Amino acid sequence: MLKRQMLGILAVTTGVIGIGITGWSLETQSKTQNTQSQILVQDTQQPERSPDVIYVPTPQPVVDEMLELAKVNKNDVIYDLGSGDGRLPITAASKYGARGFGIDINPERIREANENAQEAGVTDRVKFLQQDLFTTDISDASVVTLYLLPDLNVKLRPKLFQQLKPGTRIVSHDFDMGDWKPDRTVTTAEGSTIYYWVIPENIPANLPEAKATSSAK
Ligand SMILES: C[S@@+](CC[C@H](N)C(=O)[O-])C[C@H]1O[C@@H](n2cnc3c(N)ncnc32)[C@H](O)[C@@H]1O
Repeated sequence: MLKRQMLGILAVTTGVIGIGITGWSLETQSKTQNTQSQILVQDTQQPERSPDVIYVPTPQPVVDEMLELAKVNKNDVIYDLGSGDGRLPITAASKYGARGFGIDINPERIREANENAQEAGVTDRVKFLQQDLFTTDISDASVVTLYLLPDLNVKLRPKLFQQLKPGTRIVSHDFDMGDWKPDRTVTTAEGSTIYYWVIPENIPANLPEAKATSSAK
């Protein structure tokens, strides 16, 4: 099955299942989601609305490479949009002294992330908010991290250009941003791809967002 079709299946099933297996990629999950070897966990508490993508954690070595690629440092404010168990902002705070926010629509993930922040001793620098990533204000971010789906990244693009300052770095695990070409692409030892962009002074002319901005002037 084509990758895009598999990802589509994944997106439409997100209201029903969460999968509690670490180290799987979204793609692996979608390939096997109807097999018996899969562990399905029904969320005990309903989120406000169905998540747009199920929870699959980024493996810790990939988290480390994402933060390294973005050159995260103690002056940064990192936003992980769809933050799961909080590992990206928690690692950014504990390893680099950054401040961070994790945004997740699922209250179960927020609870888990708060516990993990407590354990890591970073609750003074990291906050988790149960919000929809499409409506949350990210204007004070200097780094944004993503592990969503290709279509969600593209849907998010106008918001990134509207709210983020030029120079803000964005890193995405495994999925690109359609016609917005990355500044760098790295393949990790685990076989994951990390995409890296920097918000430019001007929106690239090939994107519909650029046309929308110029016609609004
Ligand atoms: C693939 S997981 C990534 C988790 C984490 N960023 C990581 O890399 O380990 C995607 C997360 O996005 C959350 N999510 C899905 N749709 C969302 C939305 N509209 N707003 C906020 N969070 C959402 C899910 O609950 C899930 O925890």
